[in-house]
Amino acid sequence: MSLFNRLLKKRGIEGESTGIDPQNVPNHIAIIMDGNGRWAKKRKLPKILGHREGSNVLKKIVKYCDKIGVKYLTVYAFSTENWKRPEKEVDELMDLLLEKLKNAEKELGGDQAQIKVIGNIKGLSTEIQKEIKRVEESTGKNSGICLNIALNYGGRDEIVNAVKDLITDVEKGIIKKAEITEEYFSKKLYTWYLPDPDLLIRTSGEKRHSNYLLWQMAYTEFWYTEVLWPDINESYIDEAIIEYQKRNRRYGGV
Ligand code: FPP
Repeated sequence: MSLFNRLLKKRGIEGESTGIDPQNVPNHIAIIMDGNGRWAKKRKLPKILGHREGSNVLKKIVKYCDKIGVKYLTVYAFSTENWKRPEKEVDELMDLLLEKLKNAEKELGGDQAQIKVIGNIKGLSTEIQKEIKRVEESTGKNSGICLNIALNYGGRDEIVNAVKDLITDVEKGIIKKAEITEEYFSKKLYTWYLPDPDLLIRTSGEKRHSNYLLWQMAYTEFWYTEVLWPDINESYIDEAIIEYQKRNRRYGGV
């Protein structure tokens, strides 16, 4: 039995080798879960059912990533720009997010996942804020994958907030302007506790960054697929990882 199959077996997955090198699984995967609307439209279903199916797929992918050894998964659930969508869609999405957060231990992360939310949390309803606090506390000591849900998240908004924080630190004399480093700046971001993503997966054929993890993705490898998010399954994650493992990451060096 191959090393990878033995690793899968140890983690409770039986089956054929997926072709992934178990020694080089990305530590942190970021995902833009795009195409829920088109998935629903193709089936003449209300858009919210596309988002609902998308959240079912997310649950499956979190479980799979945990099993293959991914340590951090960060998913784009609602951007600072998504407020511009029709009121009905925003309301339905917020209701779905609240429902999933209420049952996050079962519905999103499984038993062992640590669940966190990144973004402008104060801009969300008090009910959602309460659930975020609850789920972060209740899963905080779990030892499995860290699932980060980007909610009311915008990369530019995050950077502007970090700059404001930095200015406050300088004004209070906590740090001198000349002493500010990239590392110090990183600690002011919503993702202060996270390593940078190694791999970004975007579904549905769009090839944009969409204000997602702008600072953090300086050296992230991007992988795109035409497949709509609700049609994603474990084999596409394998495909993305296999492609990632072929890349030569030079970080600007030779
Ligand atoms: C983009 O598809 C998707 C979103 C804006 C929402 C993503 C939300 C989920 C997958 C469900 C809930 C998530 C959690 C964490 C419980 P789109 O609507 O832009 O699709 P389209 O481009 O085909 O219209």
